[in-house]
Amino acid sequence: MQPANNIYMQRRAAVARHIGPGGVAIVPTAPERNRNRDSDFLYRHDSYFYYLCGFTEPHATLVISGDGHSTLFCQPKDREREIWHGLRVGPEAAPAQLGVDAALSSAELDTQLPPLLDGREAVWYPFATHAGLETQIDGWLSKLRARVRYGTLCPQQQRDLCGVLDEMRLLKDTHEQAIMRRAGQISAGAHVRAMQLCARMLRAGQEVREYHLDAELLHEFRRHGSQAPAYGSIVAAGANACVLHYRADAGRVNDGELVLIDAACELDGYASDITRTFPANGRFSGAQRTLYELVLASQEAAIAATKAGARFTDPHDAAVRVLAQGMLDVGLLDKNKVGSVEDVIEQRAYFAFYMHRTGHWIGMDVHDCGAYTEPSEIGQVSTRKDALTGEVIKDRPARILRPGMALTIEPGIYVRPAADVPERFHNIGIRIEDDAIVTATGCELFTRDVPVGVAEIEALMRAQ
Ligand code: GLY
Ligand code: MN
Ligand code: MN
Repeated sequence: MQPANNIYMQRRAAVARHIGPGGVAIVPTAPERNRNRDSDFLYRHDSYFYYLCGFTEPHATLVISGDGHSTLFCQPKDREREIWHGLRVGPEAAPAQLGVDAALSSAELDTQLPPLLDGREAVWYPFATHAGLETQIDGWLSKLRARVRYGTLCPQQQRDLCGVLDEMRLLKDTHEQAIMRRAGQISAGAHVRAMQLCARMLRAGQEVREYHLDAELLHEFRRHGSQAPAYGSIVAAGANACVLHYRADAGRVNDGELVLIDAACELDGYASDITRTFPANGRFSGAQRTLYELVLASQEAAIAATKAGARFTDPHDAAVRVLAQGMLDVGLLDKNKVGSVEDVIEQRAYFAFYMHRTGHWIGMDVHDCGAYTEPSEIGQVSTRKDALTGEVIKDRPARILRPGMALTIEPGIYVRPAADVPERFHNIGIRIEDDAIVTATGCELFTRDVPVGVAEIEALMRAQ
């Protein structure tokens, strides 16, 4: 057994303790997904499944009994299939390699699941996550029920496993933190390369397209062993940066414009998530610098608010306050129309230029699992407003940050042309995004190997 398998054994043991001796948990991995005709998308395992056994092959299901016994159903060895698609671990080798107690062929799932469910009080599985799983479980339960006259006992409860796993995944252990730091380093290096390439090509009089920078990112991710980008890379030149979910495309990167890159790699099942915005030619113009420094100041305020004991919403509120004041100061918002900073916040006038949240959990999934409400306080009398919709949320206080939680900090400003907006700011889109692990005293930013300061970015883009 590999030493890392201890981690998965400990996680499975924690699940077993949670569901109790009368429970049984079923966790399938992700299906393969067809891209077109007979080509599939690059396979990506299910995060819950991987969290519990570290296994990356498709067509696998993990079953954990409440007494702690684990059974992996996996693809059987098959010489011909393995010649075409690669080696399989197979049920015989799986216990030694993965540390599971038993392994069977996935072809045996339908015959073996009913006996594994027999006599259990509750069957646990991730609700609303795997298309068709409920139907499969119904099938296994109905097989059991058909044999009640022979003494079988059907589970009486179905329980959602997501909540249990989400709470576990919310706190990143040292093994996870180490992988995330490395993913952050690789991604930061990729941003550095893209920035430098951009300035170098423009200096050489070459045409730069968004895809040139995207290629540089991918090259850096892969050459350091990342399996894939953690999400669809955004490489947005000029006005494209004002489209929040723009994808790296073929837009021309013009001298004098900003480039927004939101791209990062996935490494060994863990995401990173970085955004940098930089001047294509390596020098910020006056208007670009004004807004950039405002976004950076708002990020610094959000970082200062990210610490154990604070609420998940505190970094956002801190960023919004700085942005709102700055929008008044630089003339994006007219004091005579919108009033004071308190009015801007209360009436959400800043929303015209800042329309997303300041962060999200990050981990195996870029927008990682985990409730944003504090579980220990659900039902306590409280009122807050949702940052995005402004809707009043009653009696569900925001999550309290604890050491080991990981989240992004990513304020921005996006200025679409409008008659009442100073022209020098038109089409400027800026976001600055870093990833943080909450510590006892503050937070550790693990994506700062790419600079954020104006002077540092300009120096980096001059240096080749
Ligand atoms: N790249 C996705 C996000 O920033 O949320
Ligand atoms: Mn993000
Ligand atoms: Mn991002």
